[in-house]
Amino acid sequence: MNNEKSWHSWSRNLWKTGEDRWIKRNGQDYYYRQQVVLPAIREKLSHLARIPSIIDLGCGDGYTLNELLDDQNIPFNDDICVAIIDISKKQLKIAKKLLEKKVRNLKVVKNDLNDESWTELIKGYEAPRIFMNIFVLQEMYSVHSFFSNISEVLEKDDLLLSIIVAPEFACNLSEREPKMAQIGKGANFVKDWDWAAKYPISTSPSTIYLPYFHRTMLDYKKIISKYDLRIVETKYLQVPDNQEARNIFKTTVYKEDIVGVNSSVLMCIKKK
Ligand SMILES: C[S@@+](CC[C@H](N)C(=O)[O-])C[C@H]1O[C@@H](n2cnc3c(N)ncnc32)[C@H](O)[C@@H]1O
Repeated sequence: MNNEKSWHSWSRNLWKTGEDRWIKRNGQDYYYRQQVVLPAIREKLSHLARIPSIIDLGCGDGYTLNELLDDQNIPFNDDICVAIIDISKKQLKIAKKLLEKKVRNLKVVKNDLNDESWTELIKGYEAPRIFMNIFVLQEMYSVHSFFSNISEVLEKDDLLLSIIVAPEFACNLSEREPKMAQIGKGANFVKDWDWAAKYPISTSPSTIYLPYFHRTMLDYKKIISKYDLRIVETKYLQVPDNQEARNIFKTTVYKEDIVGVNSSVLMCIKKK
């Protein structure tokens, strides 16, 4: 594959292949969300004075946002405006069903995050606006348009919370896991990633593969600063090192190697 369009179709097709199983994915992934992802986001949101608007960019099935909205320690306004955006109609349908029960002002938007039209839909949302973007960037064959769009809408008090698979963890996994063989090295077109792979997320033999495009933290930093944005905090996130986690992960492709290691990274991003 030697052009961006074919990598884009490769990633979309890979998603479509696993999508039905992603929706029914197993307890290991939910455990990861509960123990790693949610505490990291809760910690950032509970320090704020109030949250009148939240926008989930690449919301998937809405699980993470739904859990957050139930948290009494996060100062969401009662009449909070929520927008959920995803490229997948199927995921949005599930997310909508989950969230419409508790949010009166809900916008459901099917859009590619690289396409700037989504930015129009949230104009008028009250600040400070929280943008969430959980495990999406490493799936995108280019993140330039994404950050350009964010830069257009992000105002001084707004915050983008972006979580990605830790680049170092992905390198390590691809070295020891044959299923995650690197592909796409040495392509001769302008791209913002170094190698691509099919990222296995679940237990073999029914492993789901998601597209993975490898960028280092320095790559992200350079791209982000190009668009008048800055990373105000980078926090590596770990699966807690305990017996429960060991039991849950021992049957997956990650085995116990994921316990206690930096497996994902939270970037807090603001306008420069
Ligand atoms: C790994 S899932 C994560 C979903 C959700 N944020 C979560 O943490 O559970 C990645 C999501 O990003 C969406 N996605 C990937 N590339 C996208 C793009 N270019 N534009 C919009 N959504 C995209 C996928 O459809 C999928 O729902």
